[in-house]
Amino acid sequence: MSTFRVSPASALRGTLTMPGDKSMTHRAIIMTALAHGTSVVSRYGRGEDCLNTMRAFQAMGIAIEETPERLVVHGKGLWGLSEPNGVINCGNSGTGIRLLAGLLAGQDFFSVLTGDDSIRRRPMGRVVRPLRDMGAVIAGRRGGELAPLAITGTRLRGIDYRSPVASAQVKSSVLLAGLMAEGTTRVTEPRLSRDHTERVFRYFGVPCAVDGLTVSVAGRPAAGWEARQMSVPGDFSAAAFFLVAGTIVTDADILIEHVGVNPTRTGLLTILARMGARIDVLNPREEGGEPVADLRVRPAALRGTTVRNEEIAPTIDEFPILCVAAAVAEGATVIAGAEELRVKESDRIATMAAELRKAGVEVEERPDGMVIHGCGATGRLKGGVFQSYGDHRVAMSMSVAGLVADTPSTIEETDCVATSFPGFMPKLMELLTPLR
Ligand code: S3P
Repeated sequence: MSTFRVSPASALRGTLTMPGDKSMTHRAIIMTALAHGTSVVSRYGRGEDCLNTMRAFQAMGIAIEETPERLVVHGKGLWGLSEPNGVINCGNSGTGIRLLAGLLAGQDFFSVLTGDDSIRRRPMGRVVRPLRDMGAVIAGRRGGELAPLAITGTRLRGIDYRSPVASAQVKSSVLLAGLMAEGTTRVTEPRLSRDHTERVFRYFGVPCAVDGLTVSVAGRPAAGWEARQMSVPGDFSAAAFFLVAGTIVTDADILIEHVGVNPTRTGLLTILARMGARIDVLNPREEGGEPVADLRVRPAALRGTTVRNEEIAPTIDEFPILCVAAAVAEGATVIAGAEELRVKESDRIATMAAELRKAGVEVEERPDGMVIHGCGATGRLKGGVFQSYGDHRVAMSMSVAGLVADTPSTIEETDCVATSFPGFMPKLMELLTPLR
């Protein structure tokens, strides 16, 4: 079991690139595997989550050549997958298991999806219920609430689904099932979640209509879609750790090149700006149907803020690192209406509250969020031994906290970081090396 050791940092300087976006890499693998012909996916994310999705398609008969720089995917069309001869292990990935559940529900073979301890605790009913409404035959523990999920592929019908949660995984699972269903499938969500599926559908020429919070797809597109080259932008959620590190370490200047800045993902930029951060969005451009930019961050004194309801979905994966920013801000930061955080890779309200308290921060935990009383300019976090709870984002967030603590810190159980960001520690170390 690996650990990270982090010492208080006096300066962080340098230029970095991030791993390919995790959400987009999953979708790129899915769409290229279902395309007709050979696609190249470059700058893809090589975290374990995405590699598990790649292996799932290999197990279903899709040839994928893998190098660190690119994947060459030999797609076989919407109906070209074959029955896997073993259980598909999605590892730690909620996106992997939920999107695959939608896709496999409408295929004509049997499959079983499972994952690690965390995945087998996380709610699957949120996708199983609408998929069953479409006619899917899915069995699972606790009536389909928990993985493993056993899926007997069948003919699906389109539905009009009103999702009770703003979740891109739910939306995408139902839309992927909708591609194989009779008629049109519509998904309406209470607030806009990340829209990578809608964008990647359009990129491959799959008609997908967006009307406010409703997305619809027509089932069984006649000729399917053709292979296309894709370049995946850097992961904003990985950049987030460096954006906060560059803000709270007193001497810092970090440039992060080629980061995805899809507005359904960048709530952290809005919140940090309101807290007083200095982050410049440079060279905005578009790539593969997604907005991309370079981000420059310099230090700033932060003040506490109240996170707005509409900021929760576009910040959903950034709350652990936002908590660290809040911990060193002047005054209180209030997070409410964020109960979804309780069903992520860990219960991120409980885990971040516990670890920040160890660092000397006063935190009030609430059912749907927390209030963090920042220690402000005069205070400093306490170094110590922090736990990751097997959650990659908790591990990376507490590593950033360690940079501004009074004594060196240890973060335990950091193998999980490889699920999304295998090179995280070396990148952080690069910034610490003087004159680079
Ligand atoms: C993701 C959606 C989000 C996010 C996850 C990736 C996706 O989950 O937290 O890391 O790629 O669709 P929810 O849909 O559960 O909010």
